[in-house]
Amino acid sequence: MRSHRCGEVNESLLGQEVGLCGWVHRRRDHGGVIFVDLRDREGLVQVVFDPDHPEPFSLAETVRSEYVIRVVGQVRARPEGTENPNLKSGRVEVLATSLEILNRSETPPFPIESDIEVNEEMRLRYRYIDLRRPVMQQRMRLRRDITRFLRNFLDHHGFYEIETPFLTKATPEGARDYLVPSRTHPHSFFALPQSPQLYKQLLMISGMDRYYQVVRCFRDEDLRADRQPEFTQLDIETSFMNEDQIMTLMEAMIRDLFRETLNEELPDPFPRMTYAEAMRRYASDKPDLRIPLELVDIADLMAGVEFKVFAGPAADPEGRVVALKLPGGGDLSRKDIDDLTRFVGIYGAKGLAYVKVNDLGAGLEGLQSPILKFMPEPTIRGILERTEAQTGDLIFFGADKARIVNESMGALRVKLGQDRGLVEKGWRPLWVTDFPMFEWDEKSGRWVALHHPFTAPKCSEEQLRQNPGRALSRAYDMVLNGTEIGGGSVRIHRTEMQQTVFDLLGIGEEEAQQKFGFLLNALRYGCPPHGGLAFGLDRLVMLMSGASSIREVMAFPKTQSAWCPLIDAPAQVNDAQLHELGIRLRKNPAVEGGTVPST
Ligand code: AMO
Ligand code: AMP
Repeated sequence: MRSHRCGEVNESLLGQEVGLCGWVHRRRDHGGVIFVDLRDREGLVQVVFDPDHPEPFSLAETVRSEYVIRVVGQVRARPEGTENPNLKSGRVEVLATSLEILNRSETPPFPIESDIEVNEEMRLRYRYIDLRRPVMQQRMRLRRDITRFLRNFLDHHGFYEIETPFLTKATPEGARDYLVPSRTHPHSFFALPQSPQLYKQLLMISGMDRYYQVVRCFRDEDLRADRQPEFTQLDIETSFMNEDQIMTLMEAMIRDLFRETLNEELPDPFPRMTYAEAMRRYASDKPDLRIPLELVDIADLMAGVEFKVFAGPAADPEGRVVALKLPGGGDLSRKDIDDLTRFVGIYGAKGLAYVKVNDLGAGLEGLQSPILKFMPEPTIRGILERTEAQTGDLIFFGADKARIVNESMGALRVKLGQDRGLVEKGWRPLWVTDFPMFEWDEKSGRWVALHHPFTAPKCSEEQLRQNPGRALSRAYDMVLNGTEIGGGSVRIHRTEMQQTVFDLLGIGEEEAQQKFGFLLNALRYGCPPHGGLAFGLDRLVMLMSGASSIREVMAFPKTQSAWCPLIDAPAQVNDAQLHELGIRLRKNPAVEGGTVPST
């Protein structure tokens, strides 16, 4: 039907006849001449209809936006002064000699432009139109470029792409499972994989040596801008490599990717930081290093003060007291500070004390703060020294359980960085290493794995048993500009160690056999040392395209409530289907399930 794509028509085709197919982007009647901007995936080209060719000319009068047409015509130079430098085809146009309308279109619900103000539900309902917008086409193209590059890299380094099942059993990655009822095994359910974790470990036991997969993962969890219920991982596993070698290979891949697709140089090597250091300096295990603000611990200085708000957490082994200096923050108004106090409140902080340094040279007189009266002078002097405060700065304080301080002050650090325009340009990757093996879960009163239960500890079984809370793991996360783009670990490859970890996690022998018996068995048959990681492909594409949400780089994402407005899923099913599956529905699941209190 066509000889070229619209966006590919350029000076090299001057004088030639071309056949083009595409969508009518815009039609303009210029008294006697009709211009149509014809659009396809590659871009726009200007088509000219003049009355010297009466048949196509009169048909062109009837075309409307988004009609699908086929044009044959001659490529000619645009008259001087009418070139469009913003278009690849901007120096030429096509004089139409024939026109065929392949299909009509109703008026689209929103314009096919990169910048539109339309709510997201509307965009998702008409996603097939939304995806026509140039910015979305660019994102899909970048996504394809990225995926292709990564596949090539891994192929080149001896990785096999192997598919693993979707109808499977729960793999604990910390989210709820999506379940699929089985018809042939009544009362039994498959779980959709939260990741192919156990299959890729089995593939290493199978001797596949190096594996990867661009694979969909399913997690029923609370959604955010960088989380979707189904998302894509670049999932990787390799045998006979330690964490250093894995990290070195993986960062080389990401460096090459950025060079090839974005022409950006990333640091070589990526900086590495322990989890403990990241928490101490940034109160986050995925610090955005572009923001030059750091937390400073001051519990020792606060230990003796009268003010209980600070003295309490300072004396509590699970407490934390920090200062966060905002250089030049002295210009914040009372209202600004009230707003920030409300902001940290979202994360459970009970307040946000501060000191404004109006004049460093003037001693206590030069300071302004609601908490000065509670603190002895040496404490105040100590804080000013440790934060290296200057005249004009503002220092915020957080004191509470470490978890609350980390969440609230970590978020405050990022917010101040963004609001005050402190975020530096460029790419700041880093590895976060030496995560704790376990975290104590207050609610259930037991240890939970920080990465997943198949991650190897840095210590012996004996040490692990003696002090689970202090054990570090051989896990690593790749962080880019404050987003965790990938994570992985060296795995446990001995049955005994795996059993010990299950045991510490409160998974009894029987439960371990029932849930992971196949893994424990497989580990007995010559399991090689192995490890790997998984990248969140959507997050990587989001960052590389500059998009603000992973929904912007997925063709058919779901809304924040895990609903697809386009096809209206999830949906009810008929009684016959349910009957076949042996399922009867409760009348009102929310009330009967007890999640909605009756009033
Ligand atoms: P993890 O759970 O850290 O590790 O996931 C790996 C990466 O996947 C991305 N990711 C998500 N992206 C979008 N929406 C989500 N809901 C979502 N959840 C996670 C993140 C994350 O870094 N099996 C292990 C990997 C391994 O150990 O090899 C795993 O799945 O970018
Ligand atoms: P109050 O005595 O409760 O009025 O608090 C005095 C100052 O300390 C106010 O500026 C509060 O915002 C602040 N504040 C109270 N609790 C905390 C806390 N847990 N961490 C940091 N600042 C706090």
